[in-house]
Amino acid sequence: MPNTLPRIVVLISGGGTNLQALIDAEAAGSLEGTIAGVISNRAGVKGLERAETAGIPTRVIPHREHSSRESFDGALMATIDGFSPDLVVLAGFMRILTDAFVQHYQGRLLNIHPSLLPAWPGLHTHRKVLEAGEAEHGATVHFVTEELDGGPRIIRGRVPVHTDDDEETLAGRVGAQERRIYLEAVRWFCQGRLRLANGETELDGTRLNEPVDRDKNP
Ligand code: GAR
Repeated sequence: MPNTLPRIVVLISGGGTNLQALIDAEAAGSLEGTIAGVISNRAGVKGLERAETAGIPTRVIPHREHSSRESFDGALMATIDGFSPDLVVLAGFMRILTDAFVQHYQGRLLNIHPSLLPAWPGLHTHRKVLEAGEAEHGATVHFVTEELDGGPRIIRGRVPVHTDDDEETLAGRVGAQERRIYLEAVRWFCQGRLRLANGETELDGTRLNEPVDRDKNP
């Protein structure tokens, strides 16, 4: 029987724990999509090993071999499109993407960011949250638009910040939430329940004014 599940391409730069959650879900039959390929801008990272172990085709496109963002993103697009994806998932992909790239995948490009967006866009979110003395932190899955970490939000996972937390313990707690909410969002997309409509998130036919929130005690 032909495999008609939605095809997913995952872009990574590092460890790939979010990728692993998707791989595990596919193996368990609960992803409702199939990971067609994994692409990294860095060779030798653990995420590539995870994909290879699962028998998923991998590609490496070193950004350093390109003299401009446009050139890198062009190569990336050609490689992604070679997998004919229905959905492109950024899972710890640490490159800023050009507007042309983002527009090409509009409505089928998801990102996960380690903060409760719109709070703390950008890098080093765990450090910033600790320095600010925040009581709560988390992660957000959103559609990608031209605005960095600013696209329509889909789902957030909250965690408490403990007084004895350091960046590592906090990152671990957020990471557990990330894997849960990313899987949920990817599954919704694959089921045809989640879409970008007129620049806003629509879930089960209803526009979301606020993202779905998952609680702080996973
Ligand atoms: C995750 O925490 C993800 O939210 C973050 O990188 C990590 C990748 O972990 N992404 C960003 O900061 C994007 N701006 P993983 O490789 O183990 O999935």
